[in-house]
Amino acid sequence: TGQVALGVIPGDGIGPEVTAEALKVLEVAAPADLKFAQTSYDLGAERYLRTGEVLPDSVLEEIRNQDALLLGAVGGKPNDPNLPPGILERGLLLKLRFELDHYVNLRPSRIYPGSVSPLSDEVLAKGEVDFVVVREGTEGPYTGNGGALRVGTPAEVATEVSVNTAYGVERVVRDAFERARRRPRKKLTLVHKTNVLVHAGQVWWRLFQQVAEEYPDVTTDYSHIDAVMIYLTTDPQRFDVIVTDNLFGDIVTDLAAAISGGIGLAASGNVNPDRTAPSMFEPVHGSAPDIAGQLIADPTAAILSGALLLDHLGHPEAAARIEAAVLADLEAREPGQQRRTPEVGDAIAARVLG
Ligand code: NAD
Ligand code: IPM
Ligand code: MN
Repeated sequence: TGQVALGVIPGDGIGPEVTAEALKVLEVAAPADLKFAQTSYDLGAERYLRTGEVLPDSVLEEIRNQDALLLGAVGGKPNDPNLPPGILERGLLLKLRFELDHYVNLRPSRIYPGSVSPLSDEVLAKGEVDFVVVREGTEGPYTGNGGALRVGTPAEVATEVSVNTAYGVERVVRDAFERARRRPRKKLTLVHKTNVLVHAGQVWWRLFQQVAEEYPDVTTDYSHIDAVMIYLTTDPQRFDVIVTDNLFGDIVTDLAAAISGGIGLAASGNVNPDRTAPSMFEPVHGSAPDIAGQLIADPTAAILSGALLLDHLGHPEAAARIEAAVLADLEAREPGQQRRTPEVGDAIAARVLG
């Protein structure tokens, strides 16, 4: 209830196209007494190429004062000579996740009755697929630790160091146990590569075991990341909640998106559970330069990210209205049907309104 300061970062490529539809649906789904005061931030490739700025400190401080954030996608065309690799990904997206302490990157995956999954009928017949990945969002190989020596010479050496702190691992593991406890199956799987990445693996494994003692009602399990690639394609029903590090979580959630109906459906929340800064909601996909400007991107992932935002703000009924509308829209989709991005948004908004 009341006014919510909503910061919007449409970003690049299909980002603005899908964000417009997410906002359209948010407006109609929100409770009548909830008003969004929107501030749009011009950040991304275009601003960088125009001004050289990625995320000025003053803008970061303004963003920090919002109640919640909605982001489209950032990133330019691959190998654009004017856009050094990582400049936006690290300087904007990861900077926001780190600065706003988004240590829980929440990525739910469900095969809805109307989704088109590439899994075989035999695999689908095993039962419902409904799991959530709790991806660590502030550490791992994403922190930028490492470096390069003798670049460009035959003696070049490059390292990317994975940072795993007891503080950082324990808080995300605990959050995952809490989420598992609130779900009917109450099962939590730790995903790592403890057989090879033994230093990081040790801290994850030990803290997972330790926190598990406080959650005797939650069933625990462990899988190596490579085997998870097998299970997701042959037996995804085994998963309920997965907790994993930043890079494994990135990879596993693209596969999760693909098996559950496509990257156009996968939503995410970069959550700060302690609410010391605004959480940020965004589709799992990127700026898709290959289809940008054609208005053919599927805005469903962005729309479902809006549902996660409403849920985070304490409006689960409004979030459920969006999810139900998406479910109905998916069931009504016909194979080969080509709808434009705004048509999908309009159709879902109309279903939310009933
Ligand atoms: P991508 O997710 O942008 O695209 C991968 C494939 O999926 C492409 O074929 C694309 O057309 C398709 N696709 C993505 N979203 C779609 C949608 N809503 N509807 C239909 N098809 C969709 O990944 P990429 O090509 O590896 O990366 C492109 C750029 O985006 C890069 O600069 C990358 O760094 C950036 N990126 C940003 C984010 C983010 O902002 N959160 C996430 C991933 C990638
Ligand atoms: C994602 C993206 C980002 C990530 C990149 C663009 C930094 O792939 O949100 O999944 O790796 O987290
Ligand atoms: Mn990714």
